[in-house]
Amino acid sequence: MRILGIESSCDETAAAVVEDGHRLLSNVVNSQIDIHAVYGGVVPEVAARSHIEVINPVINQALTEANLTWDDIDAIAVTYAPGLIGSLLVGTLAARTLATLKNKPLYPIHHVEAHVYANFITDQSNSVNLTLPSKQPTFPMLALIVSGGHSQLVLFKDHGDFELLGQTQDDAVGEAFDKVAKILGLPYPGGPSIANAALEGDPYAYQLPKAKMQGAYDFSFSGLKTAVLRAVQREVGVDTTFPSRELAALLSDTQKVNFAASFQRVAIETLVDKAEAAFKDHSPASVVIAGGVAANQELRRQLSERLPLSIEYAPMSLCTDNAAMIGTLGYYYAQKKQPTAPVDVEVVPSLSMTKTVWA
Ligand code: KG4
Ligand code: ZN
Repeated sequence: MRILGIESSCDETAAAVVEDGHRLLSNVVNSQIDIHAVYGGVVPEVAARSHIEVINPVINQALTEANLTWDDIDAIAVTYAPGLIGSLLVGTLAARTLATLKNKPLYPIHHVEAHVYANFITDQSNSVNLTLPSKQPTFPMLALIVSGGHSQLVLFKDHGDFELLGQTQDDAVGEAFDKVAKILGLPYPGGPSIANAALEGDPYAYQLPKAKMQGAYDFSFSGLKTAVLRAVQREVGVDTTFPSRELAALLSDTQKVNFAASFQRVAIETLVDKAEAAFKDHSPASVVIAGGVAANQELRRQLSERLPLSIEYAPMSLCTDNAAMIGTLGYYYAQKKQPTAPVDVEVVPSLSMTKTVWA
């Protein structure tokens, strides 16, 4: 079964073709990072307009790169939740229209759940050139989902059968990376900038606190971000009323890389502490990481140090937003669920992954 996946929930317009939930035939991602970098973050209206401009060419390119025509496509899967409303509308409208015109079954997919399915892609055609895991994860599977909008630990018993173990009580970890990067004057998006700067820095240069949480698997990152802000203010000798956007100019390059490394170490330790606790309590057969922050090398290093099993990682390009993960989850969803009538596919901008949504 070949599924065309479509993704437009934030600032990436993406389309991909996936065969039988594991073989990637094409993977097209049009990133708007350059457009939003000017503003230091995603501007929702600008994102939606940009999706409209490129969605059709991106979908056509996904078919061309897969060397397929519409006759070869069995179904369409599209992100319907969660995300920016204007952005989601562009992808779902394109999918609804194409499903109707081309007479294809349509499956609505949850973006956060789909991030986990990047780990199920184990094969590819010649037009895709990625380093993929050698085999699919097995159930029960512990998933650490870490992105710009989400930080959660989810236990999957099977496809579509999962339980939320814990989540952030405030900021998502990617959001904390982005905010700390702003304080340090590092370019958007902050995650890769901090990770790069941290390579040059001393991760023990500054003492930053780890939040104590009530829930055994819950996270918090807002206090850590504020602790970085206060430490920077102390370091440059200004009080808390000093405008935070002017702090970076007072930091030396050495101070910046040391702050980046110290923040990254504590943020990643926070994630790994909880992942380790969940692993001990639930003895999963496999562990996967998913979402944009899964691209972080320090997270991969600490996890392999602390968990007693070897983890196979999805390639970086499948960790950040893409449509391959949508087409992949679409396949498993289609095994158990009926398609949704195109007119009934509605967007849900905020829908967290708290319980099984299908099974
Ligand atoms: O999953 P994603 O592409 O979009 C969302 O659904 O949020 O994740 C984007 C987030 C951003 O906050 C970005 O700064 C972060 O992932 N990120 C990273 C790295 N690469 C991307 N964070 C830490 N280290 C990285 N290497
Ligand atoms: Zn995402």
